[in-house]
Amino acid sequence: MSQLSQPHLLGIKNITTSDIRKIFETADNFKQVINRPIKKVPSLRDITIANLFFENSTRTRISFELAEKRLSADVLNFSASNSSVSKGETLIDTVNNILAMKVDIVVMRHQAPGACVFLSKHIEAQIVNAGDGTHEHPTQALLDAYSIRERLGDVEGKKVVIVGDIMHSRVALSNIYCLKKLGAEVMVCGPSTLIPKFIESLGVKIETNLRKALEWCDVANMLRIQLERQDIKYFPSLREYTMMYGLNLKMLENLNKEIVIMHPGPINRGVEITSDIADSEHSIILDQVENGVAVRMAVLYLLAS
Ligand code: CP
Repeated sequence: MSQLSQPHLLGIKNITTSDIRKIFETADNFKQVINRPIKKVPSLRDITIANLFFENSTRTRISFELAEKRLSADVLNFSASNSSVSKGETLIDTVNNILAMKVDIVVMRHQAPGACVFLSKHIEAQIVNAGDGTHEHPTQALLDAYSIRERLGDVEGKKVVIVGDIMHSRVALSNIYCLKKLGAEVMVCGPSTLIPKFIESLGVKIETNLRKALEWCDVANMLRIQLERQDIKYFPSLREYTMMYGLNLKMLENLNKEIVIMHPGPINRGVEITSDIADSEHSIILDQVENGVAVRMAVLYLLAS
């Protein structure tokens, strides 16, 4: 059963705008709950959720676990590094063994793009994608759009630029799908070597000059350069990347307009963003983290009920 149009949350590409709005409305209620002295509700009592993390995570793993516990679900945590995956067990065997212990929902992060879609065709449980390689990170996009709605009142009509390593970013792709479905105008900005050729077909603008992008936008979502996914050099050095695409307070002050600054984390301070911006009132980075718990509670609640 699911109150969304799908039994799983595999990506933003295939969910409806009405699903997104339902998630936001439900998250509004859960945000009130987690700000009360008693932060727990019994909504998912008797539901068991396994968090399977085959790739490192701080925010997403902790946020899902907290969301599940706030909903009174039973929670299992699995990380590939200390499991029998290192002995050669396949993904399907690993998950089926966990499901044999009567698990209802699987939250999975995996380094392979499409791993969650693949798994959804081979197992019985409901699946939530917590980030699959360079493909999608749906709950990050939902919490990002939710945070824009919270700060600016609505997403529709807002101009959002996503800056940095678009090529290797699942956050960028899920954000583009989500923001476009909600009626925002979207631009990507970065070195042309890090902007994939297909991106224009998604209806986004492309800009290689950061100053021009900042002059255009209401919101700037600064991405991390994902060196761990880059097998060749896409720019001469990190120092040169920062000179061209790093955001600092002086640049914002020279604009004479207000821009909301976002970052999905983890931040490389001094590379894509300086501390004087990351920790300033322009930034909603920690609001994004806070909203992540309410949005993930909403996703799990709507999928399970
Ligand atoms: N934003 C995000 O996905 O962070 P983690 O990799 O720490 O989960």
